[in-house]
Amino acid sequence: MTDLLVLGSGIAGLSAAIHAARRGLSVVVLTKGELALSATRYAQGGVAAALEEPDSAELHLSDTLAAGAGLCDSDAVRVLVTEGPGRVRDLMALGAVFDRTGDGATAALALAREGGHSVSRVVHAGGDATGAEIERALVAAVHSLDLVTVRERCFAVDLIVQGGRCVGVRALDAAGAPIEVRARDTIVATGGAGQLFAVTTNPVVSTGDGIALALRAGAAVADIEFMQFHPTALHHPSMPRPLLSEALRGEGAVLRDEHGVAFMTDEHPLAGLAPRDVVSRAIARRLVDRGLDHLWLDATTIRDFPDRFPTIWASAQTVALDPRRDWLPVAPAAHYLCGGVATDLDGATTLPGLWSCGEAACSGVHGANRLASNSLLDGLVFAPRAVDAICSGKDACEATGVLRAAAEPRGFRASRASRSTGSITLEELQSVMTAGAGVLRDAESLQGVLDVLPSDVVAVNPAGYELRNLLAVGWALARAALEREESRGTHTRLDFPNHSNLLLGRFFQEGEALTFHPLPVDVRQPSA
Ligand code: SIN
Repeated sequence: MTDLLVLGSGIAGLSAAIHAARRGLSVVVLTKGELALSATRYAQGGVAAALEEPDSAELHLSDTLAAGAGLCDSDAVRVLVTEGPGRVRDLMALGAVFDRTGDGATAALALAREGGHSVSRVVHAGGDATGAEIERALVAAVHSLDLVTVRERCFAVDLIVQGGRCVGVRALDAAGAPIEVRARDTIVATGGAGQLFAVTTNPVVSTGDGIALALRAGAAVADIEFMQFHPTALHHPSMPRPLLSEALRGEGAVLRDEHGVAFMTDEHPLAGLAPRDVVSRAIARRLVDRGLDHLWLDATTIRDFPDRFPTIWASAQTVALDPRRDWLPVAPAAHYLCGGVATDLDGATTLPGLWSCGEAACSGVHGANRLASNSLLDGLVFAPRAVDAICSGKDACEATGVLRAAAEPRGFRASRASRSTGSITLEELQSVMTAGAGVLRDAESLQGVLDVLPSDVVAVNPAGYELRNLLAVGWALARAALEREESRGTHTRLDFPNHSNLLLGRFFQEGEALTFHPLPVDVRQPSA
């Protein structure tokens, strides 16, 4: 039996593996693709951290809370913003190279600005290839550690629960044969579920596997209705959709409608640098009202485009666009799941022996809408915290982070939704979710999703298991979204356009049960 099993090989999983091995634990990293294949490597913008004055942890905290629309856990955010700068420096010590301004000894880190940030605080690498550089550095570090065993192309099918404790995973190995990997502790760091939607910036591996595993094992999942849609994916048939980083708007790019009007100035004081949910909603409304399929991003004023944004430059070239001259067609795309496996501030879940971090987890740092470039930081900060907690002998979750609300008396329990039988393909699932649970939702559209999604599908191979996992997460998402009769953060209900104070709390799904727990009054934020 290994000390620690890590499911997933993005920034959270590999950070956990490296930290654990350095603390003397034997580690198995199990990943369904190659080690370097994860959503992390697609990240463009960068890592947000208050590294130098005039920035401060307090400023980063207030920007994160404002973006989260009242549902961040302020203790979780405080952990993120205070421990974040040290973790970014650790990453540099590990070998990740971030962009700098100037040369030699005087070169300072180049800091970009993105939506919802009141100052420039986003470090980036290779211009807009930040995730690729981080993944490169982490993979190299993992390969140098004898205590880490990597098992690539192994698909985790279900968690093994014995005596009320997670003790590992049942999986299919690279040849498709069933195996078991037993571990004293297991960390789910399998990322998000962008593949639920027909248009996404996420790679094909983002199928909600860890969240579905946790749901089936009875661990609580929270805030799952908050799927963040990135406002500016390149409108182009390729999948995943090429991302046009918010950093473009940080460098002066402007969103324009079909008449060339820079419409964001009428929507928010920060215009195109408003929090992401505001921008996505503004675009989605115009697309629906005007019967359009895209608007425009005008980045023609950005100097040195090919050097500063080489990834985006290459994407534009493939569709014969020159961003120095042409406006870029854009539309929102599913990008980041703010909810996930509910954890305390150490990544502990409600199932002993099971931990979670990164996009798969919901610690409370993102609330109803993640602040741009806080996701890589989330993985960097909370993965080593989980390892430290495991090393300290912690064995049960506490009422902190998102689990603070779970410990409060239940507000209400949602009525049991009936589940249909039948079959569905991945394309059908994506089209149902896109039509019914996308940027703009209402009761009818969400009920339509629940009516159509079958309760399960027969799975015999990884593709079948992925579909099964997506179904479980899609169902949970639509169900919580139907019950959340308000608009907040990434969740926009056309039939309930305002915040509701009665819904200032969290939906937890455990097994088939969906319960709502109000936030304790003493942790409510003024922005709520
Ligand atoms: C972007 O570069 O716009 C994406 C960054 C993020 O998702 O935080």
